[in-house]
Amino acid sequence: MAIKWTEDLATGIEKIDEQHRELFRRVNELMEACAKGKGKEQVLKTSNFLSEYVVMHFGEEEKIMREKNYPGYEAHKAQHDGFVKRFAEIKEKLGQTGPTVDLVIKMNNFLVDWLFNHIKKTDKALGAYLKGQM
Ligand SMILES: [Fe+2]
Repeated sequence: MAIKWTEDLATGIEKIDEQHRELFRRVNELMEACAKGKGKEQVLKTSNFLSEYVVMHFGEEEKIMREKNYPGYEAHKAQHDGFVKRFAEIKEKLGQTGPTVDLVIKMNNFLVDWLFNHIKKTDKALGAYLKGQM
């Protein structure tokens, strides 16, 4: 099982799209490890990588939004903040209990659901706005 990047996920902002593809690659790496029974080992690596990468990525998007006076900035940023909070909660549990199967699945599902929904609606709306500005 793997999540697939398709063109309809593109925002049209090359830097952002490349970062999204990297996020997909990392989530796929976790999913593949799970399929091979190595999810517990991989989930710590993936979550450590993502906790830095995602903050950098959200920062880039938010910088663009501020520069372009994007009217949806507050709502978009609130979604990013919501992700960071939920991700930190799952990561904290990982630290407490170690990578249980339940937590690995929770992390996986959260990443996949959130990424698809956020990119398809929120990031694409930003992309459309920027296109209209150019
Ligand atoms: Fe975003």
